[in-house]
Amino acid sequence: MTKLSLPNGVVPVKVRFEHHTSGLGVGTRAPRISWHLEGEGNFGPTGYEVERNGAETCSVEPYEQVLVPWPFSPLGPGEGAVVRVRAGSAEGWTAWSEPSLVEAGLISPGDWKALFVSPRRSGGTGAPAPYVRGSFEVTGEVRRARLYTTALGAHVAYLNGHRVSADVLAPGWTSYAKRLAYQTYDVTGLLVQGPNLLQALLGNGWYRGKLTWDKRHYYGDRLAYLAQLEVTYADGRAQRVCTDTSWQAAESGVLFDDIYDGQTTDLRIDGPAGPWGPVDVVECDMATLFAAEAPAVRALMALPVREELVSPSGKKIVDFGQNLVGWVRLEIRGGREGQEVSLRHAEVLEGGELCTRPLRKAEATDRYLLKGAPAEVLEPIFTFHGFRYAEITGLDGAGVDNVEAVVIGSSLERTGWFESSSAELDRLHENVVWGMRGNFLSVPTDCPQRDERLGWTGDIQVFSPAAASLFDCSSFLGSWLADLAADQRPGGEVPLVVPDLMPFRPGVAAWGDAACVVPWVLYQHFGDLGVLERQWASMRGWVDWVASQAGESRLWSGRLQVGDWLDPTAPPEAPHLAKADPDVVATACFARCAGIVAEVANLLGRSDEAERYEALASQVRRAFADAYVTPSGLVMSDAQTVYAIALAWDLLPTERQRAAAGRRLAELVRLAGHRIGTGFVGTPWVLDALSDAGYCTDAYWLLFQRSCPSWLYAVTMGATTIWERWDSLLPDGSVNPGQMTSFNHYAFGAVAAYLHQRIAGLAPREPGYRSISVRPLPGRELTYARTRQLTPYGTAEVAWSRGEGSFLLEVTVPQLVEAHVQLPGSTTVEVVGAGKHRFEGPDPLDRGLSGLGVAEPATRPLADVLDLLGDEEAWAEFSRAYQELTGGGEESLLGILRRLARTPLSWLPEMPVGPGGKQLPPEERAGLAKVVSSLQQHMP
Ligand code: BGC
Repeated sequence: MTKLSLPNGVVPVKVRFEHHTSGLGVGTRAPRISWHLEGEGNFGPTGYEVERNGAETCSVEPYEQVLVPWPFSPLGPGEGAVVRVRAGSAEGWTAWSEPSLVEAGLISPGDWKALFVSPRRSGGTGAPAPYVRGSFEVTGEVRRARLYTTALGAHVAYLNGHRVSADVLAPGWTSYAKRLAYQTYDVTGLLVQGPNLLQALLGNGWYRGKLTWDKRHYYGDRLAYLAQLEVTYADGRAQRVCTDTSWQAAESGVLFDDIYDGQTTDLRIDGPAGPWGPVDVVECDMATLFAAEAPAVRALMALPVREELVSPSGKKIVDFGQNLVGWVRLEIRGGREGQEVSLRHAEVLEGGELCTRPLRKAEATDRYLLKGAPAEVLEPIFTFHGFRYAEITGLDGAGVDNVEAVVIGSSLERTGWFESSSAELDRLHENVVWGMRGNFLSVPTDCPQRDERLGWTGDIQVFSPAAASLFDCSSFLGSWLADLAADQRPGGEVPLVVPDLMPFRPGVAAWGDAACVVPWVLYQHFGDLGVLERQWASMRGWVDWVASQAGESRLWSGRLQVGDWLDPTAPPEAPHLAKADPDVVATACFARCAGIVAEVANLLGRSDEAERYEALASQVRRAFADAYVTPSGLVMSDAQTVYAIALAWDLLPTERQRAAAGRRLAELVRLAGHRIGTGFVGTPWVLDALSDAGYCTDAYWLLFQRSCPSWLYAVTMGATTIWERWDSLLPDGSVNPGQMTSFNHYAFGAVAAYLHQRIAGLAPREPGYRSISVRPLPGRELTYARTRQLTPYGTAEVAWSRGEGSFLLEVTVPQLVEAHVQLPGSTTVEVVGAGKHRFEGPDPLDRGLSGLGVAEPATRPLADVLDLLGDEEAWAEFSRAYQELTGGGEESLLGILRRLARTPLSWLPEMPVGPGGKQLPPEERAGLAKVVSSLQQHMP
């Protein structure tokens, strides 16, 4: 292979603070600083200088640029600093970075002078959303104004009639009784000389609306608003405006609002529907307040209507061509005063009509009472829906214009991309991105459409590696983990959902593991040891609790588990009835988490605990192997999932067991006709386990499978998001009859991590991509794949292509980073530094080599049935011939062959392999024998 490097100039860029997006209102007085170096070539910094306010400078060690401790004296509450960075080298200093502003928020409860105010005449959940308002005078030139604000409920704030920010459903959802976020807004430009009016509209949000199947008012029955406006005048004077008893309240035209059910708006009521009445001060523990660090929920984009439809019953339905989360905005022309127009939403159609059954009790309906103006805009503010289709009723002759879907979600920065020569694989990846967009909405939710939308711990546990490869979710998940820790029960038990709404449900394996896995994933991707420090007690707590459940045996067995949820063979109404034994899964999860905690203890310098958890992890591994693994490597319950996790989590003690488990996993995948056989727990690991064991062809075959169940099956059925079930839509186009059928669940989208890290081949090798591993895995189904990752150190890229016998790999390595490159077809690892690198050679696939650089276990010559099932060409030819000869289909043939796996291929025609398991008649036997012998002869 030949290698070329191209050097070039360098400058520090993107100076940022903690994981905060704007730097405004950070929740610490000593925010850690990050930047990276942009420019090509391999730059070796001798150190950095960090400058504050153009005056003070501090030196920083050469090798650090991610989350560097604040080198200056701590900031006071609300105090700001303008920070620049430059790097030194043997040739001198680089230019200074662009200046970045950081400003501390209100840090301690004592910094708050404002009081929570609530309308005295407070209606319940079904009553109109209230406004609260307060006025004040501005008496001079304003240099700076900051609004610190939050609510019990959701709020939209207006200053002098202008919306203060584009945030949606602020302050977001946290475990309110313990943690309530506040936002900081720069409102300098909205103040006017003389009288000013600050006003907020309050919605029920997660605080007082419906949650789960049966809860309402979960957190409290009174909405309240808190605002503290800090004004600094040019002459140095300071003014503070606070919510207090002088504020007033009135009703609004938002007659009803609920996250699940939708919003009803009376457009005839423009602004507050007087009369204004008094407010009460309500108690709230100010120690629960914290500066929001996670990016706020915002409108992310708007999509036009792709097609207008008329349903068989005559309803007007608009199709946005994409399953999404948000609402519909439209303009009505020529409506009558008081005319009611409504919109119902759904993810799918059935029989051409809106299919709302999967929404269960969520009404997902927005209603508007028109003003009767020549043109009026219809758009809700305190709800969201998961939908692709919307049905518009009540138009009654009025015209509709500018219909668009407003997509909302937490405004995370996109950091990872993947592209390949397969349009279907790219669509699968795009579906994962859409699933994440819609379900990273303040908390990581299971789904965005039905009466659920909860922070299910298991879902994010399995999806977090994919999430961290796609978007910068460090502060989003970091904040959610703080809620997880806050909601953890005495003894360390982790709730099923966070924020916890089911305190009566016991902790279960794989779900509670989020406590250990999510911080670990964040550490790998974003390099923040601080998240491990903050979560340490929580991580350890979960493992301690599991240990207490397992007892001396170290086997966590005989308890209620969710297990390998939604294994495709589980009945629609019993998704926990997986092939993988729940006790085997639970103890495997226990071993994995104990191992993570031991590693974290080491990283945090907690050597005693490290020893204790290492010992625990090895005891659990031993107990697992003794109880559930035969010496020859069979794992109890003999399902794809148990092999995948036993291999991926290193639970098999001997080489013999590991080799046998890899072989057995490949056999099970082949016997299933390369259809997926895993649920939530096994799905993220099955392709890795196959590839690592050397069965890369089987991994590709499984990934590119289009029959049900498989990843691409949903794509062939027109999916635009990842489905909850492998068959949320059945092959005949009907909706799965299970009462739990969402079309937007990200768990099975965990495969995106495999696309980035294995297919394209870019993975963090050290935390934060401080060094990267480049291990592309080409396969016959692809001629190229590429991935790009904005790492904390800068942009890394891997792109490979193959064709006409050659293979080309291009790698871009950020400054300060080392890439360990292992080319397919080679067992050696080459280490390269920053810059662009190009490697060329013969196509390894032409030499029968797998992506690991080793020859795959050969299936040819085709000796037995398993060999046949493991050879794509031979299998295609055989099943086609079988169908022609006997009329039997592939599915039933697979069912028959499952019991004949080790049967020599040449015996097969004589076996009872006819449709229905019957012996074949003589002519068909002869025909099949001919096919078999030709397959066996034509092999190299
Ligand atoms: C959710 C899942 C969740 C599961 C666990 C479902 O209702 O939608 O994603 O993890 O319950 O019981």
